Amino acid sequence: MTTTDPSRLEGATALDVDTLRFPPDFVWGAATAAFQIEGSISADGRTPSIWDTFAATPGKVLNGDNGEPACDHYNRSAEDVELMERLGLAAYRFSVAWPRIVPAADGVVEPRGLAFYDKLVDQLLAKGIQPVATLYHWDLPQWLEDEGGWRNRDTAYRFAEYAKVVHGHLGDRVKLWSTLNEPWCSAFLGHHKGIHAPGLKDSQASLEAMHHLLLAHGLATRAMREQAAEDHKFSLVLNFTQAWADNDDTASKDVVRKVDGLHNRIFLDPVLGKGYPADVVEDVAWLGDWQRVVQDGDLDVIATPIDFLGVNYYSPTRVAPAADPEVVTDGPFPGLRGAELLDPRGELTSFGWEQNADAFAELLTRLGRDVDGLPIVITENGSAFTDVVADDGSVDDPQRVAFLLDHLRAVHRAIESGADIRGYLAWSLLDNFEWAEGYSQRFGVVRVDYETQERTVKRSGEVLARIIGRNSIPATGYDVE
Ligand code: FCB
Repeated sequence: MTTTDPSRLEGATALDVDTLRFPPDFVWGAATAAFQIEGSISADGRTPSIWDTFAATPGKVLNGDNGEPACDHYNRSAEDVELMERLGLAAYRFSVAWPRIVPAADGVVEPRGLAFYDKLVDQLLAKGIQPVATLYHWDLPQWLEDEGGWRNRDTAYRFAEYAKVVHGHLGDRVKLWSTLNEPWCSAFLGHHKGIHAPGLKDSQASLEAMHHLLLAHGLATRAMREQAAEDHKFSLVLNFTQAWADNDDTASKDVVRKVDGLHNRIFLDPVLGKGYPADVVEDVAWLGDWQRVVQDGDLDVIATPIDFLGVNYYSPTRVAPAADPEVVTDGPFPGLRGAELLDPRGELTSFGWEQNADAFAELLTRLGRDVDGLPIVITENGSAFTDVVADDGSVDDPQRVAFLLDHLRAVHRAIESGADIRGYLAWSLLDNFEWAEGYSQRFGVVRVDYETQERTVKRSGEVLARIIGRNSIPATGYDVE
């Protein structure tokens, strides 16, 4: 990979002081994930995923919501691709549902599952929209969970086989690939905190799952690369946070280091070929001997080169030293001791997340340095608010518009500081099933009425379309007319 080329912004720097231009080849798009939008959970041979099981377990998902009907995208992909065209998207990030492709333990591939993604990819290409495929966005087939799921090393090998099948089938048309979406969530929210499927509260298991997920990423990247055309690009999508403390005394710096380690570096460093960070390994050592799962050669597999890094960002993590340095922090991080996770600040999203674009700029600037020339694509960024539908049916969502512009300014600042950021994919195209929050959190730039399945482009969607059309944003304010 080449290092950041500052000339990328040439001819794209501010036309005037009021306009921030993006690089001429900057890719604009939006993202979704299979389980969150498709519905049709038993169609065409699909079998349950861990999220079907989790949602069917009382008390796990708000209001008892589940993956049906979601946005009924399985039956409405043509209409949704037309919406993307209307918004001017150059790229669309979707995920492939593993249980549609390999529905049972016999490993037999379901052609009807592949046919759905065939159709979707063809619909996208017919509209000039570049497909960006993610192979795993959390919907592990339940049959694999029954064999130990991500705690079982074998799942990593099953993932590589599945990746090879999907890549082999769609690779004549899809050039941009991501293996996993946010393995941090799968490992730690799913196996330590227990608030995501499969709902375990077992720290040791969460670290084992983490390693097997990373191994799966490396094995799948290798398997796909072997059969790939030269212009195929492979990636991993990680969710990053910016850890922030109010003070910069030694104890505060140390808890920032711990949270940054357990959120960001524990995934990023091995992928970049640096192995697991020694300080993090030491921090979690008291949990048990999770490193016995790391076999000879695994770190080489995990370090298989990628072509770009997918960065998902939503909010910072505020942290302070705890009064008792031995206290175990009640949070999503296994093994975090002596830290207190503080409440988010300012005007929060409806999810209760802090809106903080400065943290995003700081994170991206730092990543730009740390990834050593690897191009970055923002694969998710967005906000949930309680939208109001006006009498005329329109949805004005000024808070989401402000979030979008503030965070795009942060992206622009990071590019100016040297980060090689190639694109921005808004989360999300559509309101959708927001995991443990069910349908209560709306992230879409397009509203979905779950009763009628009617789609309405929100003002944020219209603003995104204008931004895409101009490849620029105003330097200040929130008017994009
Ligand atoms: C990310 C997930 C995505 C969505 C957003 C809000 O962690 O990747 O599916 O739920 O959060």
